Amino acid sequence: MKVLGKAYRSIWPLEIGKSVGIIDQTRLPHQFVEVELNNLQDAATSIQDMWVRGAPLIGATAAYGVALEMARDPSDAALDNAWEVLHATRPTAINLRWALNDMRKLLSPLASELRAKAAWNRATEINDADVACNKALGQHGLKLIEEIAAQKPDGEPVNILTHCNAGWLATVDWGTATSPIYQAHNKGIKVHVWVEETRPRNQGAGLTAWELGQHGVPHTLLVDNAGGHLMQHDMVDMCIVGTDRTTAHGDVCNKIGTYLKALAAYDNGVPFYVALPSSTIDWTVADGVKEIPIEERDGEEVAWISGETASGNVEKVRICPAETPLSNFAFDVTPSKYVTALITERGVCSASKEGLAGLFPEEAKEAV
Ligand code: MRU
Repeated sequence: MKVLGKAYRSIWPLEIGKSVGIIDQTRLPHQFVEVELNNLQDAATSIQDMWVRGAPLIGATAAYGVALEMARDPSDAALDNAWEVLHATRPTAINLRWALNDMRKLLSPLASELRAKAAWNRATEINDADVACNKALGQHGLKLIEEIAAQKPDGEPVNILTHCNAGWLATVDWGTATSPIYQAHNKGIKVHVWVEETRPRNQGAGLTAWELGQHGVPHTLLVDNAGGHLMQHDMVDMCIVGTDRTTAHGDVCNKIGTYLKALAAYDNGVPFYVALPSSTIDWTVADGVKEIPIEERDGEEVAWISGETASGNVEKVRICPAETPLSNFAFDVTPSKYVTALITERGVCSASKEGLAGLFPEEAKEAV
């Protein structure tokens, strides 16, 4: 997508086998800073410290992290170590394990002198495939937006609520939840996005509002707790969110607060869609609430908030007493019964074992 009119991906190769570029997302929306990753540790730090984040982008960065390590040392020990170091960075998004397993499966049987080139090529394929998947799922999601647009009075936009950032910044390009939205907007369909701020790190305020603004998509920022009220007053036509891990039975784990929006949507008859590339499905998990590990982050993220002052400096302020005990669960699980449908690169399906198996029979054979 575009930044100041220039086309960007959220990660891109700089020098083959040697370096990749990323956007430091911790600096947005105040500063647009490009960063170079040169080795395994750079890649691990960029995921751990959330310069890159969002399930698909975490996987895409990890793949390049393995490739950078193979260029330095293509031994079995280095491959195993790269898998461990990258896997330890963040626990919830399954794309990380998916990309690391994919890289290891390809590289393990190869002679060490072949590994560096093969790893770079495969990491590039994983990145390109993410773009293609998100574009394809956006085509399927576009039809859902078109159906609602056809029922709106002339000139009224389709109002879509989203949570966190499941935009192009969370993927290599297009985004998941935002892909249908960008494609509808590009086609001239009137859309308006309700963007939830998404405490504590404010990915909605800092990232989703920023990227929609860069692309010219009409949107309005909300505090997290306002979504239910809007749904009660017919101000939301549909919700579309992303997911960090989707179970084989259709439960979805996404940024904390998603579950509450799904409950409000269910209570008010608002369709609640989850958009995902299939790399986000964990075929080994049936019950998301019981089985998905939920990342617990530093409580400091809850206590402190950062923003730009009137004089243009970016500063952090504490919003509670210094001694307040803090809790910071980063994700929650929305059971499949609250999900209207899943939007994938192969089409739209029910959030169920049967629905997913219908679209992905080859993976579903091995599923729990
Ligand atoms: O903690 P983050 O910013 O990595 O969380 C990101 C999300 O929760 C996204 O909604 C999810 O990864 C889907 S992204 C396409």
